[in-house]
Amino acid sequence: MQHLVAPSLLAANFLHLEEEIRIVNRSEADLFHVDVMDGHFVPNISFGFSIIKQIKSVAQKPLDVHLMISQPDHYLEDFKNAGADWLSVHYETCPHLHRSIQRIKELGMKAGVVINPHNNVELLKGILPDVDFVLLMSVNPGFGGQHFIDATYDRIDKLNSMKQDLNPGLLIEVDGGVNVQNAEALAKAGANILVAGSAVFQSEDPVATIARLKHP
Ligand code: DX5
Ligand code: ZN
Repeated sequence: MQHLVAPSLLAANFLHLEEEIRIVNRSEADLFHVDVMDGHFVPNISFGFSIIKQIKSVAQKPLDVHLMISQPDHYLEDFKNAGADWLSVHYETCPHLHRSIQRIKELGMKAGVVINPHNNVELLKGILPDVDFVLLMSVNPGFGGQHFIDATYDRIDKLNSMKQDLNPGLLIEVDGGVNVQNAEALAKAGANILVAGSAVFQSEDPVATIARLKHP
């Protein structure tokens, strides 16, 4: 399967957000990656429901909403109502992860679990059959523009062998420090979705950069 590309709007120019979204609309990108941060689970605050609703009104591709918030269970329906099509919650924030994932699915969204770089992917064994995708953090969550952590390749590898037994249709998404230099290696290693923020929006020509990420 050809991998998907999901530009992260965290790196967009918020003063020209509509124009940034239209650039992604006319590119080969597959999804919009939308990072929600609460200043509690991660040391940064991004944006919430009203901005996501506005993004949804212009976006012509599905919204992949990545929740970096404590107690995400309280807000799953609100994110659906704001326009999320894919919704992911951190393993580290969900003591009743199975219930959270079932709820996301009941609400009609694709359900994903995210895992921080220090946590072993084997922790996901029990939930793997139930999720549509796993988001592997390749930086510590909270900020764009950080360096890719090389140990991610081993983690993709491990997850790939786990998925053969437990959920062959599972998609593996990689988020943080993805760029045109490492996209090919990541896709070859088994990443199915590449998230890229600064690599896209800080480039001279975001449409061309997205094409390079899509065909590395
Ligand atoms: C980091 C976010 C990422 C971020 C990636 O916590 O989850 O989605 O936007 O940004 P880059 O691609 O600049 O590393
Ligand atoms: Zn993200």
